[in-house]
Amino acid sequence: MLQTYTLKMPQAVFGGENSLDQITTVLKQRNVKRAAIFTDKGILATGLFSLPEEAVKAAGADYYILSDIPAEPSYEAVQNIVDEYKKSGADIIIAVGGGSVLDAAKLASVLVTDEYGVKELLDNPLLAKKCVPTILIPTTAGTGAEVTPNAIVAVPEKELKVGIVNDHMIADYVVLDARMVKNLPMKIAAATGVDALAHAIECYTSNKANPFSDTFALEALDLIFQHIVAACTDPSAMEAKNKMQIAAFYAGFAITASGTTAVHALSYPLGGKYHIAHGVSNAILLAPVMRFNAPYCEDRLAIAYDRCCHEEKKEAITDKEKAEWIIKKIEDIVKELEIPTSLKEFGVPKEDLEGLVEAGMQVTRLLVNNRRPVTPEDARNLYLEIL
Ligand SMILES: NC(=O)c1ccc[n+]([C@@H]2O[C@H](COP(=O)([O-])OP(=O)(O)OC[C@H]3O[C@@H](n4cnc5c(N)ncnc54)[C@H](O)[C@@H]3O)[C@@H](O)[C@H]2O)c1
Ligand SMILES: [Zn+2]
Repeated sequence: MLQTYTLKMPQAVFGGENSLDQITTVLKQRNVKRAAIFTDKGILATGLFSLPEEAVKAAGADYYILSDIPAEPSYEAVQNIVDEYKKSGADIIIAVGGGSVLDAAKLASVLVTDEYGVKELLDNPLLAKKCVPTILIPTTAGTGAEVTPNAIVAVPEKELKVGIVNDHMIADYVVLDARMVKNLPMKIAAATGVDALAHAIECYTSNKANPFSDTFALEALDLIFQHIVAACTDPSAMEAKNKMQIAAFYAGFAITASGTTAVHALSYPLGGKYHIAHGVSNAILLAPVMRFNAPYCEDRLAIAYDRCCHEEKKEAITDKEKAEWIIKKIEDIVKELEIPTSLKEFGVPKEDLEGLVEAGMQVTRLLVNNRRPVTPEDARNLYLEIL
């Protein structure tokens, strides 16, 4: 039986050399008088901010900077920045940053109201309506947040991270300018790159996978396998960095059309309770969960192998061998990029196991996408494996 599936996308995506210049054109076309630019202290410290700032100045627009956004913010921290934004009188939002900044900006774009705030969206995400257009400029490669309708916030009282999903948060414009990821520190590049890898492989093996998401997920996976190591370890590998930026965007597109699965579901409590960076917690869980999933998605992992293995002497013959190659490749990447492979260095005590299982099992929004059903016993075994 044919399913229905949808591809939702921004009005325009600008990529390639000097694509930040397009901001000037957009602001002029839209006759923007005042822009609110969301960013964070880390980006300001790099000096990167001056590039989009110049483009805004060239349009003759006035602007207001909001930079008080912590990494992986709580819903309360985002509400504070939304309240500050509401006073700015800006007629467009420009966001320059990683997923944390982009998600905060996306929430602000649908919350110019006193009737409800971020807290209310946690329970009822569909309340929100787009109030102001957005231009999203990712500086990590990456979460894909520039193209998804999702915004993720920490909920401290639940010790969990929660995704708010609403199509009104899809960006109006996206700018993928390679200069923004040129000097990404290795640690951030590695964690965010493996996050994109998780998006691609999870979306490709998701119950929600469909021809639209497959196209983007497979292309993203192929690009990431080829370029992630050079992009993270070789400061001069501009081509590889550019490819990672595009791959992260495609993987975000795959999320929009499909959905992530048990890797992201079980990773949310690790971010919520222990503040482990999103990309790192996914990297720790990625190979164990894919190995657990493999018997239920060997066919798909075999297709991924046929598409993404470019080794001259292809040795895997059966679907099982091909699936194993993909999982081994993921493990090798995580090791080569020196990302932790267990929770040991984060001081997570064994006594927390049951709490983790309970919290992970609450993320039903993503667990339902997993081809292999996940029972509390399965979650316990997976967490035990990484403790
Ligand atoms: N909306 C979505 O679809 C989606 C998808 C995945 C993850 N997320 C969320 O995104 C957040 C994580 O985003 P992230 O991994 O991009 O990291 P981040 O935005 O939290 O940034 C991490 C750190 O990197 C610094 N940084 C960013 N770009 C830099 C650059 N070019 N040079 C130097 N430093 C730089 C930042 O200042 C910050 O200190 C999490 O909250 C996660 O849950 C959202
Ligand atoms: Zn992610």
